[in-house]
Amino acid sequence: MSVDARKSALVTAPLVGEHVRALREVLDIDQAESPSGLTQDELLARIGRFDGVLTLLSHRVDAELLSRAPRLRVVANHAVGVDNIDLAACLARGVIVTNTPGVLTEATADLAFGLLADAARRITEGDRHVREHGFPRWSASLLLGRPLHGATLGIVGFGRIGRALAARARGFGMRILYFSRTRAPVEVEAELVATHVELDALLAKSDLVSLHAPLTDATRGMLDRSRLRAMKRGAILVNTARGALVDEHALAECLHDGHLGGAGLDVYAEEPRIDPLLLSAPRVVLAPHIGSADRPTRDAMARLACEGLRAVLEGREPAHRVI
Ligand code: NAP
Ligand code: GLV
Repeated sequence: MSVDARKSALVTAPLVGEHVRALREVLDIDQAESPSGLTQDELLARIGRFDGVLTLLSHRVDAELLSRAPRLRVVANHAVGVDNIDLAACLARGVIVTNTPGVLTEATADLAFGLLADAARRITEGDRHVREHGFPRWSASLLLGRPLHGATLGIVGFGRIGRALAARARGFGMRILYFSRTRAPVEVEAELVATHVELDALLAKSDLVSLHAPLTDATRGMLDRSRLRAMKRGAILVNTARGALVDEHALAECLHDGHLGGAGLDVYAEEPRIDPLLLSAPRVVLAPHIGSADRPTRDAMARLACEGLRAVLEGREPAHRVI
């Protein structure tokens, strides 16, 4: 469909690449300039006149926003995760939701592996030590970590990113256990030499655990206090999925009292707030939600989000429709 009565869309932040420029040729685009995007209040104040919106994962699309957006037809989320969106409310209003799966799989698996290596081999801790105290005299017991090679890695959520992490771990000679809602096809299990186990068995047997399940009602708090305590003493936990999968306060306690040997976190339950007990915990590497943050990946995410917005407003089926 050519856009006669041009539709309008709000792009809530500057994006990587030239994709918004191309959108302007067919849609009336209003784009926010602040690098971290519109605040929630600014979004609520501006959403009213738009047919579409391109949101960041930090924006909440809920009943309140929908009530202020009578013209809204599409929410194009610049993320694969859609836990920031009330899907039921969008469905009830007939608002289509799109996301950006696939293009960020390898980047996020790279970061997850980086956090595993960093937390297990205490790299950031060593960097801090050198900056604060200088390079101490060599000692046989300085900053002893956990081996990666030969370790048992437990992957929770064995979809795109979980499997991409498994492929990396194979190169390090790790034994791979996984827990997921649906068991992977046997050929995938065979290729990745990955064994399906229940969550409690995975936690009891793994030296390293990495989370890759989406945040849903079923996964919220899945690593609660008792499950964290059921992990092997000295194990490492990495979370690049969503913070609310884990009881963060209990995690911080497990790090402070030495039950866990370390953690690598990219995501937090109430971003951008980080629990002060986590900030003061030993052996935890804290990243500011940068799983997909390499240039080609962010360029591809912007492209998919813009394509989703445009497709719906031109009356076509978007490639990555969530609902
Ligand atoms: P995906 O391909 O859909 O994989 C998710 C996996 O989790 C699927 O295998 C799914 O099983 C499984 N799962 C769903 N509910 C579960 C449950 N209740 N218990 C156990 N497993 C469950 O998604 P993805 O592309 O790998 O992304 C995963 C998540 O990573 C996203 O939702 C997002 O929150 C997060 N993420 C973070 C970053 C970052 O910057 N840190 C970047 C990208 C993604 P089924 O297939 O049976 O549903
Ligand atoms: C990032 O967290 C995403 O879900 O894309």
